Amino acid sequence: MVRGRCTADMDVIVLKKSSAVAACGAGLIQQLLQTKPAAVLGLATGNTPLAMYQCLITACDNGDVSFRDVTTFNLDEYVGIDAGNPASYRSTMKRELFDRIDIDQARTYLPESDAGVDPSATGPAYEEAILAAGGIDLQVLGIGRNGHIGFNEPTSSLGSRTRIKTLTQQTLQSNSQYFADSGTQPQVAVTMGIATILDARHILLLATGVEKAQAVRDAIEGPVTAMCPASALQLHRKVTVLLDDEAASCLAMRDYYDWVHRQKQRFGKEFTAC
Ligand code: GLP
Repeated sequence: MVRGRCTADMDVIVLKKSSAVAACGAGLIQQLLQTKPAAVLGLATGNTPLAMYQCLITACDNGDVSFRDVTTFNLDEYVGIDAGNPASYRSTMKRELFDRIDIDQARTYLPESDAGVDPSATGPAYEEAILAAGGIDLQVLGIGRNGHIGFNEPTSSLGSRTRIKTLTQQTLQSNSQYFADSGTQPQVAVTMGIATILDARHILLLATGVEKAQAVRDAIEGPVTAMCPASALQLHRKVTVLLDDEAASCLAMRDYYDWVHRQKQRFGKEFTAC
């Protein structure tokens, strides 16, 4: 055995329901915080992680987990809307998690560009802040229907770092649900790059629903290509993918993933949260 080296592959775990995905993801985060209470978490917005955040809120209420010493870095934030705008990712995170757990909000970071600050300066500063915090222990990801992670749209460089990205029409359309007036919907965002995401020590990708099935297949079983930014996760040494049945419905190797998961449960190795 080579000491100090992570030998894990991508773990693909398919669960019956989206509620099980949420519980399992929360369990994984709780496990991390038990061993490392001052962990650095990378967090995501979108609908997918909300149920997992709710599980963490409940666990915190019950005294089963504490975020007192945790630092968080979110993947992305829109450019051109105030942090106080209910559709900003800062507001979303406060509403869905930060205001409801015992975290010190001074240690919750998003790649926000203050008014009057050139947003192109935000990326390098964010990269430095992540490094100064010791790097991200566990990065939570959702996936866009076009395979994006964060706001790394198709054709994003696999070596990209935190920077401004212009959103695709498909992403604008998917996210229009959060904006009452389409005239106020930002068309650009600052997002961690793909290389930034790959620097995390462990990546937790969550996907639920049939509308994600093709992107999930492209990400896990397709070629590594900038056309599916999530496919870059194949290059990472430690990725856990939690899917519900619907999101797993296009996977060619589904039987194999189930078999591997059963073996791991049987031998009690590596992964015990689900
Ligand atoms: C947004 C976010 C992503 C998120 C994706 C999917 O555009 N920037 O981080 O993963 O959409 O969102 P949902 O989970 O709502 O499908």
